[in-house]
This record gives sequence, structure tokens and C-alpha cells, in this order.
Amino acid sequence: MSNQNTPLVPSRPQRQTGRRAALIGGLTLAGAAALSLGAGAYDVGVTAPHSKPTEWALRHGMELSVRNQARDVKIPSGVDLRDRALAERAIGHYSVACAQCHGAPGHPAAPWMVLYPAPADLTEAETVSRWTDAELFWIIENGIKDTGMIALGPTHQAQDIWAVTAFVRQLPAMEPGHYHELVTRYQAQRAQMAPTSAHSH
Ligand code: HEC
Repeated sequence: MSNQNTPLVPSRPQRQTGRRAALIGGLTLAGAAALSLGAGAYDVGVTAPHSKPTEWALRHGMELSVRNQARDVKIPSGVDLRDRALAERAIGHYSVACAQCHGAPGHPAAPWMVLYPAPADLTEAETVSRWTDAELFWIIENGIKDTGMIALGPTHQAQDIWAVTAFVRQLPAMEPGHYHELVTRYQAQRAQMAPTSAHSH
């Protein structure tokens, strides 16, 4: 891996000292966190944000984790996230299970959905384009610990999760009128269903 003759790379004893310092630092921080949790001093409230560096570290750690975990996700042959028909199959899922937190074209997220960290607006291109197809799928399948982001994996089939992923991929370009039309059609279909088969996704 690293070449120890290069001056930029510390010698083994130096590296060990560095690692030991990092370990002690980490343990000290973890100890302090455990102590303050134990003492009840830590404010778990959504309305009491972390310091900016902690906030950055948690978000950055989440992004690194998703990028790493998603390396094993294989896009099935025949699945194309730009396919409009595939995305539109997920209108029920998105409008029922996602829109209240993440918003939809012409429909901002529910104002009472106050979470920390705050769910991003998925109608914004820069939010969605930061993730690859595999990463988006992984997030939607597995959720994100300690944030309120739900996991569809335990209750939904992969083909449905790919449809939701396609929906999210296409969301920033979707016109509010078209979203409205899809929701209206979905609700009309639901209303026609027999009461016994009400929730089918
Ligand atoms: C109860 C609220 C809630 C619901 C419902 C919810 N999410 Fe999330 N979602 C979150 C939160 C909170 C995050 C994490 C934000 C963070 O870590 O910065 C998140 C993160 C995400 C991200 C990553 C966005 C980013 O910050 O870069 C995607 C994509 C996503 N959710 C898609 C979905 C989809 C699709 C659904 C519906 C199947 C859904 N979410 C349902 C709250 C929610």
C-alpha cells in the first residue's frame, strides 16, 4: 500500500503513535458522550441541533456509508431509471409514504414534519443528482439509522423499490400538473378497490 521510504509517509512508530492518539481521542469523545448521556445532560430534542462540526461529521459519515454499502447493489437487467412507465408505477408509494417528508412537485413537505436532520426536498435536482442509481436504491431499501428515514426493504419487493427509485430520479423534472394527474388517477383506482384489498403496496 504505502511506501515507507517516501518522506510524506510517517515511519511505522510515528504512525502507531498517530493511531494511538486517534484511538485515545476517539475513546475520550465516546466516554464523554456516554457520561453526558448517562447523566441526562445531553439534549435529545429535535429542536436542539448538534454543533456545526458534529452535524457535518454525521452527514459526511452517512454519505460515505451509503457510497460504500451501495457498491454491492446491482441494477437488474431491463431496469432503466429514466423509464417513465417504471417511475409512474410508484406514484402510490411516493405520494403515500414519502411526500409528507420529502415534498412533491407542487406539494411542499408537511409543515409539521419537523425532523432532525431535516429530510431533503427531493424535487430539487441537486439533492437527487448527488446520488448514483445504486445509492438511491440502497437508501430507499435500507433507510438511514437515527434519522426517521424509512426502509422499504423489509416490506417491499425489489421491483417496487426500483420503481420508487426511478420515481425519485425523475422527480426534479416532473411538472406539478403531471404529478397531480398521477395522484388523482391513483386515488380514483384506490377508491374503486374492494374495501378488503385496500392497502396493496
Ligand atoms: C418520516 C419522514 C421520512 C419519510 C416518510 C421518508 N424519508 Fe427519506 N429521509 C428522511 C430523513 C430524515 C433523511 C435523512 C437526512 C439526512 O441524513 O441528512 C432522508 C433521506 C432520504 C434520501 C437521501 C437524501 C439526501 O439527504 O441526500 C432519499 C433519496 C430519501 N430519503 C428518499 C425517500 C423515499 C423515496 C421515501 C419514501 C419511500 C422516503 N425517503 C420516506 C425522512 C423521511
